[in-house]
Amino acid sequence: MFKTRVTELLGVEYPIQCGTMMNLSFAPFVAACANAGIFSCLASANFPDKQSLLDGLKQLRDLTDKPFGVNVSLFPGHDARTVEVTLDILAGEGIKIIETAGRSPEPHLAKIRAMGAVHIHKCARLRDAVKMDKLGVNIVSLVGAECGGHPGMEDVSTLVLIPEATSLIKTPLIAGGGFSDGKTLVAALALGAEGVNMGTRFLNTVECPIHQKSKDKFVAAETTDTMVIQKSIQSPIRVLKNQWAKEIEEMENRGASLEELLPKITSQKARTAWIDGGDEAVFPCGQVVGRTKETLPIKDLVVKIMAEAREVSQRVQGIANA
Ligand SMILES: Cc1cc2nc3c(=O)[nH]c(=O)nc-3n(C[C@H](O)[C@H](O)[C@H](O)COP(=O)(O)O)c2cc1C
Repeated sequence: MFKTRVTELLGVEYPIQCGTMMNLSFAPFVAACANAGIFSCLASANFPDKQSLLDGLKQLRDLTDKPFGVNVSLFPGHDARTVEVTLDILAGEGIKIIETAGRSPEPHLAKIRAMGAVHIHKCARLRDAVKMDKLGVNIVSLVGAECGGHPGMEDVSTLVLIPEATSLIKTPLIAGGGFSDGKTLVAALALGAEGVNMGTRFLNTVECPIHQKSKDKFVAAETTDTMVIQKSIQSPIRVLKNQWAKEIEEMENRGASLEELLPKITSQKARTAWIDGGDEAVFPCGQVVGRTKETLPIKDLVVKIMAEAREVSQRVQGIANA
């Protein structure tokens, strides 16, 4: 059940991706997703050099024999040369699923295709999704404004963006931004998507490598407890509304430069704070944080999502047949 072109291309049981997460998508977390029958990517940006990336891949392969991908960040700070070096390492390791995000992957398409890899590109604007369709990526991943992490500058919600995209493109599409359960999974499929990308929901799982204090903050948060910062530097990011994020917003309102902002927005701060449960960092998370109240092992979460998806599908079918 719930077989789509996305599950076929990725070789996974269920049409769910646990979104790639900087500082969190390390081998044990990714392996727990793979072993639960869903798709997930190791974040290559989490590894500062070739040897640590190779070690991460080895650890992952020791923990699962199920399919997984590797995310190659094209966000600012990852220049074209570094990206090519990373792709060469992944080619050498026989990686068969590559996810890119952050900028057009055009300069790297030849290399990704030569690897024979399934290529997913994640974007946040309709016109980028259409461009990726024309460029021939294998899966387009598209996130709406409510997503955790980078929503893009245009503020279009998932409910509007996804059906617009699926009516324009032929490439299979993974929808992201606001998905957290069986109800929203079925909604995504109804909109024409063939899989969902859930990031925020997976923060609150047993295997997610963050301090319990951080998980407790997410459980306590409401849907209104996120905000978008960094629009002034054209790199918007939806984060938990904490004191740290509010200070960044004030700096941006005062016209602070990128150089002034950098010490506050660096993801190095989050790396430490996720582990020690501290507050002095930017914590990416989506509006759906307010619907994420239960900390579950990933396997149980996936079983629960799929059971609800089946129940909801039958209910809708019942309405259609009435
Ligand atoms: C803590 C966190 C870190 C993230 N880091 C990245 C990242 O490094 N690269 C990336 O492409 N997306 C990143 N994202 C975005 C997710 O992969 C995913 O697209 C998004 O969370 C989906 O929306 P949702 O949060 O509403 O589920 C991150 C999201 C979160 C919550």
